[in-house]
Amino acid sequence: MCGIVAYIGPKEAYPILIKGLKRLEYRGYDSAGVALLDGSLRVLKKEGKVSILEEYSTSQDTSGTVGIGHTRWATHGVPCDKNAHPHLSQSGNIAIIHNGIIENYNSLKKELEQLGYSFHSDTDTEVLVNLIEDIQKEDKLSMEEAVRVALNEVIGAYAIVVIDKREPDKLVAARKGSPLVIGIGKDEFFVASDASPIIEYTKNVVYLNDEEIAVLNRNGDLEIKTLGNIQKSPYVQKLEMDLEKIERGGYEHFMLKEIYEQPQVILDCMRGRMNAEKGWIKLGGITEYLPRINNAKRIIITACGTSWHSGLIAEYLIEELARVPVEVEYASEFRYRNPIVTEKDVVIAISQSGETADTLSAIQIAKDRQALIYGICNVIGSSIARASHAGSYTHAGPEIGVASTKAFTAQVTILTLLALQLAQAKGTISQSRLRQILYELEQIPSKVAEALKTNDKVKEIAAKYKDAHNFLYLGRGLSFPIALEGALKLKEISYIHAEGYPAAEMKHGPIALIDENMPVVFIATNMSAYEKIVSNIQEVKARKGKVIAIVNSGDSQIKALADEVIELPETDELLSPLVSIVPLQLLSYHIALMRGCNVDQPRNLAKSVTVE
Ligand code: G6P
Repeated sequence: MCGIVAYIGPKEAYPILIKGLKRLEYRGYDSAGVALLDGSLRVLKKEGKVSILEEYSTSQDTSGTVGIGHTRWATHGVPCDKNAHPHLSQSGNIAIIHNGIIENYNSLKKELEQLGYSFHSDTDTEVLVNLIEDIQKEDKLSMEEAVRVALNEVIGAYAIVVIDKREPDKLVAARKGSPLVIGIGKDEFFVASDASPIIEYTKNVVYLNDEEIAVLNRNGDLEIKTLGNIQKSPYVQKLEMDLEKIERGGYEHFMLKEIYEQPQVILDCMRGRMNAEKGWIKLGGITEYLPRINNAKRIIITACGTSWHSGLIAEYLIEELARVPVEVEYASEFRYRNPIVTEKDVVIAISQSGETADTLSAIQIAKDRQALIYGICNVIGSSIARASHAGSYTHAGPEIGVASTKAFTAQVTILTLLALQLAQAKGTISQSRLRQILYELEQIPSKVAEALKTNDKVKEIAAKYKDAHNFLYLGRGLSFPIALEGALKLKEISYIHAEGYPAAEMKHGPIALIDENMPVVFIATNMSAYEKIVSNIQEVKARKGKVIAIVNSGDSQIKALADEVIELPETDELLSPLVSIVPLQLLSYHIALMRGCNVDQPRNLAKSVTVE
């Protein structure tokens, strides 16, 4: 949440900051601002998207070769100009940008008020910048020392960058719990919440660790020390990200591009990890820990949002194939309910961003209780990836659309491989069944490509139902998590209230909502529950509900009953979620577009949730 970017070097900072903020806008878009240092320290900030700031800045002085920029997802205080970052200290000497939450800001604020500081925003960040100023003034410290001392007084999470007009040749950055990456160019430095603002200038980066402070000097020196004042040598890594992958590439929206990337993403995700012919699967990250995972008494899966839905699919797959009990937990609940976890448990943490605060804390709790942590992340080098003992990357490439699509199918692909590898190691699957599933898995990219061809049909359906106030999504077995995910996609980007339910549970509540205005989406591609789903469809029709059914091609029984039918290629039931989610992603996309919603940046949401 919140995106931060900073620059120091020979170039003009403003264009780099604005471009970087646009790349980071997926992290929040309530307000945006920059501070530029060029003799004087100037702050330009505006409520709303980065484009509003950009428009406003055309009439302002944007010169300066050092600067910081911020795009906000509001936590403390409503989105408005005064709460936008950067925030200035009382003297106007220091400017700060901040991603995270300072939990003890209230007590710090009271102390500072007694010392004569007054505040002009509702933010915790303004408290931090004044705390730094006060420490600097009292103890006559350099900026970096004042930042270090101040951060030792702070409770909470942060990624910050600070500039001081009396020290124009340096940036000071620090992190705890929120991501920060430093780009090292020729005589220049970049700092950002992720590598996307940096990629076109340099591939050399340093990921700052928690409780580390970096001092970036204009002369090219980079110093890193801990909050405890221990010097660290920077560990420089090469970025693997491609510029092309973070651009829209001819698509109207990132979400659409990402939906269409799925055949390739699934292929990339499987590459080198399986061979159907030979009947082998090998998730690199698991090998060293396979005996421990194999002997686990229980697997706990923890995640948030869409990643939690892929966890639900994994529960079905692992229990069915490997016969190990699985529990799937919302990370936010798990972390606060004193869960029973022991060294005999394996905890799988799933996260696209690898930065979700609740998932990260859940991992910490499980780690403290000696469980083995297996991380499934998309963002390479992310906090969750680094906090895990073992893990697998989904390799889906940067996902920019706030509503997750390709990261979800990549997660499900990895989890399918994991379930199969575990089943093979435990001897709970025959070699012929394993081969059969792997052969089917190899076909999935082309079946997803087939599923994408339903786009025109889905668009027609979207036009008919776009004005509905409620939607119900129903499925059984592996299609139940798909019902949840389909409903979440619709809610997230079109703001239509939607609920996902196990189809059989409909009669225990949601059936009361059904009338001629209620579209009900049935995911009816799993043949083992076919007759039961048909009965559920009958129940909806009997109450005049409108049925949109996702079926296997060639279906006739449901076709005769449903108002709308979307046909998908059939696959092994265990793999059906990978195909059946596609038309639901498209449905939410088209409905949102037709309702005039901002598909890539839905209101109130952010892609990377680094607050709890
Ligand atoms: C946010 C995003 C969702 C995502 C969830 C979990 O709510 O908008 O798309 O599913 O966070 O994020 P993670 O990065 O941990 O998968």
